[in-house]
This record gives sequence, C-alpha cells and structure tokens, in this order.
Amino acid sequence: MLKDTPQLKDVIWWSKDRKLEGLNYITLNEDNTINVPDNPAIVFIEGDGIGPEITQAMLYVVNSAVEKVYGGNKKITWIEALAGDKAEENTGERLPQETLDLLKQAVVGIKGPLGTPVGKGGKSLNSALRKAFNYYSAVRPVYWIGQPTPVPEPQKVDVVVFRENTDDVYSGIEFFSKTEEAQKVRKFLIEEMGASEAGFPEDVGITVKPMSEYKTKRHVRKALRYALEFGKKHVAVIGKGNIMKATEGAFINWAFEVAEEPEFKGKVITDPEAQPQEGQVKLEKVITDQMLMQLVLNPEYWDVIIAENLNGDYVSDLAAALIGGPGFVPSGNIGDGYALFESTHGTAWGKAGKATANPLSLTLSGAMLLEYIGWKEAANRIYEAVKKTLANRIGTPDIVKGFEKQGISAKEVSTYDFAKEIANRI
Ligand code: NAI
Repeated sequence: MLKDTPQLKDVIWWSKDRKLEGLNYITLNEDNTINVPDNPAIVFIEGDGIGPEITQAMLYVVNSAVEKVYGGNKKITWIEALAGDKAEENTGERLPQETLDLLKQAVVGIKGPLGTPVGKGGKSLNSALRKAFNYYSAVRPVYWIGQPTPVPEPQKVDVVVFRENTDDVYSGIEFFSKTEEAQKVRKFLIEEMGASEAGFPEDVGITVKPMSEYKTKRHVRKALRYALEFGKKHVAVIGKGNIMKATEGAFINWAFEVAEEPEFKGKVITDPEAQPQEGQVKLEKVITDQMLMQLVLNPEYWDVIIAENLNGDYVSDLAAALIGGPGFVPSGNIGDGYALFESTHGTAWGKAGKATANPLSLTLSGAMLLEYIGWKEAANRIYEAVKKTLANRIGTPDIVKGFEKQGISAKEVSTYDFAKEIANRI
C-alpha cells in the first residue's frame, strides 16, 4: 500500500462526511480552453479490480514528479470520487450524482478501469461518463519506452491516435436477421430507396452507421490543434472512403474542409507534393487498411492519426500491440475542455488485491493529464523516469515475463515498489 506514504498524505479520500471546502478548481473559458490554478483540485476514480492498486501507484508517481519539478509552487489536490463496485457498496449506486458533480466542478479527472457487471443490465459506466461530459475525442499516444515488444524497432512507433468517441456504428442502430424490424427496414430500402434484393436478402441483418459533419469537424479540430501545439508533422485522416462514401468518405472530406478554416489556413498543408515547414503540419488521407500496413512497415512517418470510432478502435489496438500491448498505453477522453484520462486495459479481476498489476497505463495517463493542464515538464520527467526504470530491467511480473521471453533477465517488483522505483528516477 502507498496510502500512508508522504506522497499521498494530502489525498482527499472519499468518506460520507467529508467536507470539500476552500479548494481551487480548473475553470473553463468561453472558447473551451482551461485556466489552471497552481493548486488545482483534480478528481480521481480508483475503479474496480486492480484499480485501487494502480491508482495509488499513479498518484505516487505523479505527486513525486510535481514535487520534484515545482517544489511547493504547484501541487494537485486529489479528490476521490466513487464509481463501480466501491460506489455501489457505499451509496447503492454505481455512478452516484456526487461523482458527476465533482467531475463537472473539477473539469479534469482520471480513472482506473470499471467493470461492467454481467447480468445486471450490463450498463457501461464508461459510456455513461462519456455521454455525461461529451468526451468526443479518445486520444491515445502510442510510443515505446523500453518495455518488451514483439517488433525489432519499436522506437519507430510514436503516434497519437485520435478516435472519434460519439459517432459511427457505436451510436447507430441494429436490426437482427429475421426480425420484424429488419423486414420493415429491408422493405423500405428496397421499395423506396433503390436497394437491390440481392444485397438485402430475406435473412439480412442490418447495422446503421451514422456519421455527422458537426461531430467529425469538432474532433478533427481537436486533433489538428494538438498536432500544431506539439510540433507534429505528418497527420493522416483515415477511412474506407472508397467504399462508404456517405460516411467514411465524408469524414475524410470534412477533415480537409477543416484544414481550410481560418484557424488552420497556412498551418495545415494539404498539397500532396509539399513538405511541412516549421510550425506546419501536413494532412494526408489514407485508406484504413493501408494505414494498418503502414503502421507495421513504415511507422516512423506518422505522428497523428485522425479516425472515426470503429477505425480508431482497430488502429489504436494495432499500434498498441506494436509497442508491447495496451498495458503500456495511456489514454484521454477529451471534449470541450472537459477531460477524463484513463488506463486502456480492464479490471484484470484475477490480479486484484495481489499488488502484481502493471500500473504503467494509468501512470502514463497521469502524465498525459499533466500535459493537458500545461505542466509539461513534470510529464516529461515521468516519461524519462519510466524509460530509465525499464532500461534497468525492473518491472511487474507481466513486464518481467515479456523481457524473459526475449532472453533478457529482469527484476520482479510489486505494483507499489515499481511506482517507487520510477519515482526514485524522476
Ligand atoms: P482486462 O484488460 O481486465 O484483462 C485482459 C488480460 O490482461 C488479463 O489476463 C489481465 O490479467 C491482463 N491485464 C490487464 N491489465 C493488466 C495490468 N495492468 N497488469 C497486468 N495484467 C493486466 O480485460 P477483460 O478481462 O476483457 O475485462 C475485465 C473487465 O474490465 C470487464 O468487466 C470489462 O468490461 C472491463 N473493462 C473496462 C475498461 C475500462 O474501464 N476502460 C476497459 C476494458 C475492460
């Protein structure tokens, strides 16, 4: 446990009768940019399964980095909010109103994995949170920091996937084969919309894929702003626009329209022959299957990939696999200022309570949070410290196993000691 260490002494854990007074919160400007005080109150949700263990590790590392970089001049006040099993035990609800209120007040938060209970209606808390705060872009930076990987040159992968989070088949509607609804839709499509009987035989199942200009453009703007802020050069917008012209094709066209907006004119270049100069990014369109191949064959070219929901899902997992798996990839769900960072893996029930879980995905998500609030130096120190720790061949059991598979011996430590090893190298 790290709860009793000096690094976590000021964390405000949840309790029924706690008072949250005199705290400073991040505020939102009209243009959805954020104002960050030197001691912002930021919300965390431990999550289920291994969540509490990896959360302590993340808080330990992030607080150590902030302390080392800023002395006492900047400091996060962490406030625990409940969701999932712990919320149900304490409040009877899996996502209490207090948690939503706190996330709204704090603007920025971070969460561990939340399990979806099987057979209880199975409502996903993650999608409830996404809906409540309209986190419309899922951002996954994929880069190698020294962990075991299946490819010979993982350092060539350094790409940020922007996956649209609110549109596409995930918000579509489905009609199962041989149901009355499917028959109704089929009839409408054949009789009124010119669909062919051959394409829609009697036993057809139908999924509707909606994609909107407004949702696409706000997502693309976020990705382009990020690319410009972080000095990225090569940005791809991907899709199977050659097949699904009204949706994925339109997604690509809308992205190029955004590049023409006054904010981006001259900064986002689209001429296929041109090279981006200082302060510019180059936007190119790439068919999704091409991108999947390029990520394996030529990953160093791409810095940012803008994708709709489904393609973003595929591409971010392939990219994650190249650098050793999702356990090493952070993520952020970002909307109009509101942001919730989270680990990319699940609750790993089998490992819960054993202090063997790998805390890197959540810890790197913590570093991403620091970047988001503008505390970039502290974030960089975490990246460097993780690199050093892995270079010294220290890791949780899954990391050690990965090294051993490659014939490299490594020292196995607990989740908590791993956090300490990282913090010692900041
Ligand atoms: P999982 O990611 O929990 O586990 C898959 C495998 O990876 C297991 O062998 C597990 O032990 C291992 N693993 C995962 N994270 C690890 C870590 N940090 N360190 C070491 N090993 C790790 O995926 P699964 O089993 O499909 O899902 C379990 C639950 O998690 C489900 O209820 C699911 O809905 C939820 N989930 C939640 C997510 C979220 O909150 N963002 C994301 C994915 C799943």
